[in-house]
Amino acid sequence: MGQLINKKDIIAIGGGKGGVGKSFLASNLGVILAKNNNPSVLVDADLGGANLHTCLGIPTPTVTLSDFVNDSSLKLEDVLVRTPEKNLMLISGAQDFLGIANPKYSQKIKLLRSIQALNASYIILDLGAGTSLNTLDFFLIADKGVLVIIPEPTSIENAYRFIKSALYRKLKLLSTDVKVKEVIEKAMTKKNDLGIGTPLDLIDYIAKIDKDVSELLFDALNKFRPRIVLNQVRTVQDIRTGFAMQNACQRYFGIKVDFLGYIENDEQVWQSIRKRQPITQNGNYSKSARSLRTIAYNLLNDLEIRPE
Ligand SMILES: Nc1ncnc2c1ncn2[C@@H]1O[C@H](COP(=O)(O)OP(=O)(O)OP(=O)(O)O)[C@@H](O)[C@H]1O
Ligand SMILES: [Mg+2]
Repeated sequence: MGQLINKKDIIAIGGGKGGVGKSFLASNLGVILAKNNNPSVLVDADLGGANLHTCLGIPTPTVTLSDFVNDSSLKLEDVLVRTPEKNLMLISGAQDFLGIANPKYSQKIKLLRSIQALNASYIILDLGAGTSLNTLDFFLIADKGVLVIIPEPTSIENAYRFIKSALYRKLKLLSTDVKVKEVIEKAMTKKNDLGIGTPLDLIDYIAKIDKDVSELLFDALNKFRPRIVLNQVRTVQDIRTGFAMQNACQRYFGIKVDFLGYIENDEQVWQSIRKRQPITQNGNYSKSARSLRTIAYNLLNDLEIRPE
């Protein structure tokens, strides 16, 4: 990574639910991008359960995000470690989660800024499960945010919650007026007494307080464009889950969601994780590896799949 790279994209992989395949997708995206001659960095931003190094087949790194957060003399570049893939570097997550699972606000800002300043074509953030503020903030600094879902009601429910929480947090961070912030906070609770059910209701309500702010928020709503990847698909019916989610997000949240593609439930996937080698690493042409390449292509080119 000798020369300075101008164009860079930050990609966040989240999803709300645990164990759905976030780290599997993040590690394979990293490998695919690196193999296409893009100097890339994978960041294990799962502050409570870092395991991305294992997905890549490297031993627990001796330097991690904890060192960066706890030692002010270190730069983020100082905790980069090599991976078996030439163009792919890793920033390993914190092992002692008590240390940085709840970083101070100033530490978090320093971390987010340093991630944005990394010299790479692509920076991929592997997020933890849940919708903690830290996780949402990692998701929101990304140029492209991806949610991994599986065709199970619990996963879908968590993904909606994730999208809604991320959207309201984004709107709240954009507004400086205390009154507007209060309204957004109230709107996040399902049974608010303001009669706000959807983000569009919220913006209508805010228009009565401040027209300019409501226009700013409306613009942010239109630009908020999460991507979804459906993992562990078993039947043709399962694929509909992705399209159904897309439609519901349009209807209830007023946002466009791109459905990047799906990956089947595949014996070779868990075997690859057991072997600690990303499935896309060594010219694997299984269905899953091909699906992952299509998903990467759609992500980079702002494309999506459509119902047949
Ligand atoms: N397409 C698939 N086919 C078969 N098994 C899969 C598939 N995707 C994921 N898995 C299984 O799910 C497990 C969990 O995947 P992964 O660790 O990527 O999830 P995660 O969302 O990152 O979990 P966490 O929230 O704990 O970080 C894998 O170890 C693998 O065995
Ligand atoms: Mg994970």
